[in-house]
Amino acid sequence: MVMNSTGLQPGQSDKEAFSQAFASLSLRCVECAASYPGIEAEPRYRCECGGVLDVEMPFQHPSPEEMSLPEGYNALEPAENDLMPLAGAAWRQLFDERATQPPIWPMGGDSLLLDRSGVWRYRELILPLPASIIVSRPEGNTGLYPVGIENCGDGRDGHRRIGQFAGIERLFLKHEGENPSGSFKDRGMTVGVSMAKATGARAVACASTGNTSASLASYAAQVGLPCFVFLPATNVAAGKLAQTLAYGATTIQIDGDFDDAMRLVEQVCNELGIYLLNSLNPYRVEGQKAIGFEFLQQLDWQAPDWLVLPAGNLGNTSAIGKALLQAHHLGLIGHLPRIASIQASGANPFYQSYMSSFTSRARVQAHTVATAIKIGDPVSYTRARRVIEQTNGVVEQVSDEEILAAKSVIDRAGIGCEPASAATLAGLRKLVARGIIKRDERVVGILTGHLLKDSVTGIPQQPQNAPLAASIDAVRQLLHTFL
Ligand code: F0G
Repeated sequence: MVMNSTGLQPGQSDKEAFSQAFASLSLRCVECAASYPGIEAEPRYRCECGGVLDVEMPFQHPSPEEMSLPEGYNALEPAENDLMPLAGAAWRQLFDERATQPPIWPMGGDSLLLDRSGVWRYRELILPLPASIIVSRPEGNTGLYPVGIENCGDGRDGHRRIGQFAGIERLFLKHEGENPSGSFKDRGMTVGVSMAKATGARAVACASTGNTSASLASYAAQVGLPCFVFLPATNVAAGKLAQTLAYGATTIQIDGDFDDAMRLVEQVCNELGIYLLNSLNPYRVEGQKAIGFEFLQQLDWQAPDWLVLPAGNLGNTSAIGKALLQAHHLGLIGHLPRIASIQASGANPFYQSYMSSFTSRARVQAHTVATAIKIGDPVSYTRARRVIEQTNGVVEQVSDEEILAAKSVIDRAGIGCEPASAATLAGLRKLVARGIIKRDERVVGILTGHLLKDSVTGIPQQPQNAPLAASIDAVRQLLHTFL
């Protein structure tokens, strides 16, 4: 079958293409394995048994003809080895070719350059949506900073301090705060809001500790969809609230915590036919997989030994874990990294469950300065538990003091992040000290949100002195005390 680069057959309408592409896709319950069609009359977020759903999709292996591989291409490939399995060669070439497209936008027309998006570049592994339906800023293409003791490079002592703090030789920090709305949430929202558009949603909604709401508000504004966000009345960082309001969302402050807001938004979305865009939405999670594909590509498909990331509602652990499992299965990478999910010790239900070998599911009343991960009953618990089991992963907890100490190291290195993101470095340091992650293992850590999201917590305060006289003598005198 001849397809164009977006997976559409020539002459096909978006609607037909959408129905056809989704016919081969199903939603599987992670609790009881019941299966549902990808699209039903009403959006489905849970199984009849109450379990969360996961997208199951057959991948169409890119054939050499479609990609016009040069004659004798396979002969040029290195022999099968741990770093570059032959089975994934066609996939790697497809994604590498797309990543080298020049950043030129077409004049006129509404065609999006999907290859420029750090999500849609991997579209065969994300979701088969027609190009004209896709809502993209574009997102992704975030930096991967080498900051380990050994891999930092000369003359970058500021960055090397991060590796020294963790006690690790080869560390890369992937800064998802460099997404358009300042957090990794944009990767899921480009998919989620595209799905809202494709299914003709009349409005979108989410519960949020702040980043999901900022991202959803931004993408909803792009297509003019009404957007409702349910926020815990306290504890949403000012930068995130400002974004959400500025992008035009209606905020509903709940006199309760994130878990209360989550329960209410799910119920109201089902009752009023509003499209729900928390990570309970199985399609949103597919977009967040792209964090995994992108850092693997930035590492030339040489998988690290470990991936370390903060864990709250557990959407990211589930999504990146799924991406790594798929990348390994398709032969994009030669070995499966282990995953370390890091929780704040005051918001640690996943850690507690892990410590019981997942024999029981813990729920807690959450308390932490890292408000983004102040969650006591994570929605994606089962998905994330499977990821930890399948990747031989670990779950660690860190105190607020450890989070703030790590944040100050990342901030002082000139990279910066919001408090929840710093759980990554705090957890890595702890796992290295405990000998679980070895000093010479290769590690990727995810920073999930931008420094400016929370401009108060853990930020040094400006001294409250009287302003300096506007005279050169006063300035000289002051600077002499520093130099
Ligand atoms: N880091 C940041 C900056 C976050 O905003 C979140 C979640 C996480 C980590 C945790 O990721 O939930 O996938 O385990 N923020 C959500 C929100 C809950 O509403 O913005 P997770």
